[in-house]
Amino acid sequence: MIHRLNTHAAIEPFVIATNRQLSVLHPIHKLLHPHFRDTMNINALARQILINAGGILETTVFPSKYSMEMSSVIYKNWALPDQALPADLVKRGMAIEDPASRHGLRLLIEDYPYAVDGLEVWFAIKRWVQDYCSFYYKEDDTVKKDSELQSWWKEIREVGHGDKKDEPWWPNMQTCEELIETCTIVIWIASALHAATNFGQYPYAGYNPNRPSLSRRFMPELGTPEYEELVRNPDKTFLKTITAQYQTILGIALIEILSRHSSDELYLGQRDTLNWTSDAEPLKAFEELGKRVAEIEERIKRMNNDEKLRNRVGPVKIPYTLLYASSEEGITGMGIPNSVSI
Ligand SMILES: [Fe+2]
Repeated sequence: MIHRLNTHAAIEPFVIATNRQLSVLHPIHKLLHPHFRDTMNINALARQILINAGGILETTVFPSKYSMEMSSVIYKNWALPDQALPADLVKRGMAIEDPASRHGLRLLIEDYPYAVDGLEVWFAIKRWVQDYCSFYYKEDDTVKKDSELQSWWKEIREVGHGDKKDEPWWPNMQTCEELIETCTIVIWIASALHAATNFGQYPYAGYNPNRPSLSRRFMPELGTPEYEELVRNPDKTFLKTITAQYQTILGIALIEILSRHSSDELYLGQRDTLNWTSDAEPLKAFEELGKRVAEIEERIKRMNNDEKLRNRVGPVKIPYTLLYASSEEGITGMGIPNSVSI
């Protein structure tokens, strides 16, 4: 549910407003466009068969017909600035601000792979957005006076996320800094946040007893027939507590499809054409992003072989690969696609 709400659903107003309000030649349209690829398609499909009443989600997960209602309640606490990874880690009590630490953040659990790898990716995206935006927006006034940009922002805030339009946390979109932070958050949500929550579904939960989706029985109490059965036949009682066969098959089939990369996937640092702009500096900055995410991937690979890091090389030997930028096609448990497309 968090996967759908915080990535698929949260990004949709940005896709719509970008297409409605920014010309395809607008620099922010060019910046964000690769991160919106196929999102409306997959979300439309999800509305038809996945999250609809009586659909696959309600059939397979524990909250059943309350799933979407719970999701709506969680959205009440959604705030755009909290989606920035550093802010998210601080808010969740996983990090504190510390100027002496790398990136100005100290992780309270040092060996927390999502946070360690995620911060590297977050700051690589931020650096790219900074370099890109500073080419087109040299001063705050350029942001303020860009009428397309202002209409874009107004639509996101007042229409797309309209039920939250009066929240005090919205950036005013008056400064270069606000523009850079906002675009970094959008790219982060569409790429790395989605990758981290989506592509581990089959690797981590494909073996159903690891994460039964529909187990919902109380422990049998002494003196009841259920308790008698537990004593007589513990295997049978256990099997009754885990997800039933039909829901298991449906659930596994679903996450198997969702965890798959298509053959034409484009990953962070890649675009479908090299000539997406004729401005040399943005092109060079984009090339730098590609190099940076490849370096990060190499660094993560080294950490995944470091036996001191028990949350990567623990007894069960499951390295944390979800934030490797690249991947082969298929179910790989790695790779950061540019956009929410599955
Ligand atoms: Fe997804």
